[in-house]
Amino acid sequence: METAVAGHRGNVVALVGSIVNLVTRLRARRAIDRSLALLISAALLTLGAAAVHFAVAPEHVAEYMPYGVFFVGLGIVQVGLAAAIVLVPSRRLFAIAAVGTSTVMSIWLVSRTAGMPIGPTPWSPEPVGFTDVVTTLLEGIAVIQFLRLFRRPGHPRPRSRIRVALSMVPVVLFAPFATFLGVGAALAPMPAAFNAAPAIHGQASTSVVHLTAQPGSEPVKKFTLTAAVRNIGGHEAWTFNGTVPGPELRVETGDRVMVTLVNHLPDATSIHWHGINVPNAMDGVAGITQDAVKPGGTFTYEFVASEAGTYWYHSHQDTSHQIANGLVGSIVVEPKDQHAAMGRDYSLLVHTLPGSDAIAVNGASNLRLDAMPGETVRLRIINAVVPGFDGAPLTPVLVGAPYVVGALDGHDLNAPQQLGPERLQLGMGQRADLVFTMPDQGGVRLFGMLGNAIFPWSAPATASVTIGDGPTPVVNASSRPTFDLTRYGLPAPDPVADAAHYDVTRDIVLGGGPTFRNGSFDFSDTLDGMASPFVPPIRVREGQLVRLHIVNNSPKFHPIHIHGHVFSVLAKNGHRFTGAPIHLDAVLVAPGETWDVAFKADNPGIWMLHCHVLAHASAGMSMTINYEGIYTPFTMGTQSGNIPE
Ligand code: C2O
Ligand code: CU
Repeated sequence: METAVAGHRGNVVALVGSIVNLVTRLRARRAIDRSLALLISAALLTLGAAAVHFAVAPEHVAEYMPYGVFFVGLGIVQVGLAAAIVLVPSRRLFAIAAVGTSTVMSIWLVSRTAGMPIGPTPWSPEPVGFTDVVTTLLEGIAVIQFLRLFRRPGHPRPRSRIRVALSMVPVVLFAPFATFLGVGAALAPMPAAFNAAPAIHGQASTSVVHLTAQPGSEPVKKFTLTAAVRNIGGHEAWTFNGTVPGPELRVETGDRVMVTLVNHLPDATSIHWHGINVPNAMDGVAGITQDAVKPGGTFTYEFVASEAGTYWYHSHQDTSHQIANGLVGSIVVEPKDQHAAMGRDYSLLVHTLPGSDAIAVNGASNLRLDAMPGETVRLRIINAVVPGFDGAPLTPVLVGAPYVVGALDGHDLNAPQQLGPERLQLGMGQRADLVFTMPDQGGVRLFGMLGNAIFPWSAPATASVTIGDGPTPVVNASSRPTFDLTRYGLPAPDPVADAAHYDVTRDIVLGGGPTFRNGSFDFSDTLDGMASPFVPPIRVREGQLVRLHIVNNSPKFHPIHIHGHVFSVLAKNGHRFTGAPIHLDAVLVAPGETWDVAFKADNPGIWMLHCHVLAHASAGMSMTINYEGIYTPFTMGTQSGNIPE
């Protein structure tokens, strides 16, 4: 190893030495005396910009031919310029190079501010991408070098070859590295149009748009959700009906729910019904089940609420930003005709306040709720908090009354036992229903919900909920045990978990690492080492039983969420669950953990499976479940503007 490195170093020294010799000889013939370091650095920077221009050319050819030709031509000119700078340097050449490169930068500036008068979209500014930054940096420094070269030399001090070589080091390192980043990013752009399940020629198949609710005579519950920008507490918020969270929607099992989304936002949006097994066309995923609803547009979602439980709704277009901006709300499906018997029933949407790192419950940092002694209270806790990059869960603790965990992700648990204060781990997207009887004296308090601190030294934001009047016990949350769902409640039959055979089995390894993706160099979160949209889908046929073996090889938490279906959890770290059957639409897989889950393919469509830490999903941790015989006419990417994550 050491000798290899030493050999390498020898090669580099020899290479630099011979370049120095060659150029010194050439320069001896020319009358111009300029620092060799400057000449070579200017040439390397120009070559780097040329390389990036060649790399972006194919994309531009596909989009608008004249731009493609322009970039190839520009690249050729820059290669020629780089050669001329070293071989035939002259003050005239430096002047031309400085003016030419500045002109290229000005054209770029116009295209990113006012927009170009020609092209596919005249007079509309293009977004600034990663490759733009790299190229502009290369060209900007090159211009500085040209100007330094152009200056009339004073009395040149003789400099040793060693010093000349040393002074080149920063640029010799920077130019190739920047070129590598720029070229790599340019060769991995965001796809123009990626179809998650294209129609296969000559094969009968059904479009997802036809997978809607069958007509029926169920009682209809109609809602309108108008998405618009509002100022909340001095911050810009994206709201449904003017508030964050949006209104709680309450329906009963058997209701036909019709929700019209009206988009008054400056961007396209959509609504996904998280946890509800809606027909595929109503799933709200931009680029898979619909086109995102453009500003000024509307879309009506319709489905029959079949299973009671705690759910939530949120945008599924540019989700990582739109959820953080505030486009979230709760939806509760009550069991039919049992409202009166339910006692106090509150949905608690725990969320990040738009524009800050503070967290809140239903919009308030200290929420107070009414309840009388002896009353039964159900708290439906929904974690919609944008977590830190590690994806860590919320860990609320309930004090003041013994309680049961009545449901997880909206699904009732069989014979849940009473608990004292425990830390309940909720990954983003997950829900838990806590049920208790109000004590004769004092209040009940839900706390320990920590947001993430933006800086390690700042205190993390926290929120709490107080139910009833009077004092609540003081408990140190961090000293409480963690709720263990692997042995809670009593066993009961679960055909999916108890199956002896699964038709489809898939291992899914959660990982990550540095990659070039969507036109930039970034850390991707990956499924089986691949990033969306290029993770191969899980292919199923209606009626099949599917088993997933999820292994987390990353140092982050990943709540893995399935659309349109419910997981039966089989095992964690290889150990079967011994308590009640657990049904979830998101499993929180901690670093190093292994989870086995299964589901029945009983809802045809093209469905997403992704990490609900939306920064991870948009960094690649997303894939689809594709039913045989179903295709989508929608695409994601720059052409349609659909970005599901
Ligand atoms: Cu709550 Cu695909 O998400
Ligand atoms: Cu994740």
